[in-house]
Amino acid sequence: MQALILAGGKGTRLRPLTVYTPKPIVPICNRPFLLYQIDTLRRAGVTDITLSLSYQPEKIEQQMGDGSNFGVKLKYAVEPQPMGTAGAYKFAEDLIREPTVVFNGDILTDLDLKAVIRQHKARKAIATIVLTPVEDPSAYGVVETEADGRVRRFLEKPKPDVSTCKNINAGTYVLEPQVLDLIPRGENHSFEYGLFPRLLEQGEPFFAHIPQRTYWMDIGTPERYLQAHHDLLANRVSRIHIKDRRGSFDSATHSEIDELSVIGDECTLKPGVKIINSVLGKGCYLEEHARIENSVIWSHTRVGTAAQVKDAIVGRGCYVGRSTLVGPGAVLGDKTSLTDYTRTCA
Ligand code: GDD
Ligand code: MG
Repeated sequence: MQALILAGGKGTRLRPLTVYTPKPIVPICNRPFLLYQIDTLRRAGVTDITLSLSYQPEKIEQQMGDGSNFGVKLKYAVEPQPMGTAGAYKFAEDLIREPTVVFNGDILTDLDLKAVIRQHKARKAIATIVLTPVEDPSAYGVVETEADGRVRRFLEKPKPDVSTCKNINAGTYVLEPQVLDLIPRGENHSFEYGLFPRLLEQGEPFFAHIPQRTYWMDIGTPERYLQAHHDLLANRVSRIHIKDRRGSFDSATHSEIDELSVIGDECTLKPGVKIINSVLGKGCYLEEHARIENSVIWSHTRVGTAAQVKDAIVGRGCYVGRSTLVGPGAVLGDKTSLTDYTRTCA
């Protein structure tokens, strides 16, 4: 079994965070996001992994290298322009002529992938799609199934009232190589609008896998990116644990850090600083009485005296001036500078 991670999207809904950092390597609790997907694959014994890239590929290659630092073998398929989800899989076909696990490159999950592969083989499926229940399926691919687990209908981003089904495409597939023959070469093609409806039309053995008690989050919007952090910090993801919440950093005796927060290496926390349920990247500098709550701050950002950051995301190398308030829902791109006393909300 091999794997292909679809990591070529532009990450538009996660802007401004993705202006300088492609979505697959945005930090989640200070680790590039792709490492969580690589962990899931490695737990299932899949170590031969192709990264399918298009947007800012050199930044991803530079961080991930040949995979040897992470116990896997990484190969790269870089599209000259985005080919769509199935087009990207077709583009990488020379590297993947065997059954393949395909991941959307923006899904944080503690899925038991071994169980998916086992069920795929037992059913002699040509394609297996993992499902997850969500409250509002309109932003996803809705998947209706038969009692025996076969897929009945696949509806990408359906209009309201088209289906009452709450199970959606979780962005994880196991595909037999013969499905490659159903995808046109050199064209933009999607799994969601192209290949999956085609498998159904042809009556192919296309099955759904519905895992029990599995965490699932598409990190592709700022709200969900932040939510994924809160879930990890609160230990709500059963198979993903943060190994080390405290890097080596300088902290004044009169600063307070709650036990949930993650502090990167080389941070400086001056007296009176308070950190609650938050993540600080490497090399952040927090001046006296700065307060960070329910927020994620990327590396090398400076927060001025008595400034507050609450329910917000602050990019790399930012400056938050003294007594500034960065409030709920704010997302500051890399290198933002906020003048002293700025308010981003009432
Ligand atoms: N290489 C490559 N080339 N990757 C791509 C391309 C492309 O042209 N287009 C998208 N991707 C990657 C993205 O980087 C992302 O990791 C993944 O494919 C899915 O694309 P999104 O743009 O994030 O899609 P979505 O979130 O709107 O919908 C998809 O995911 C949902 C689950 O989160 C669909 O697969 C839905 O059916 C699904 O429910
Ligand atoms: Mg997505």
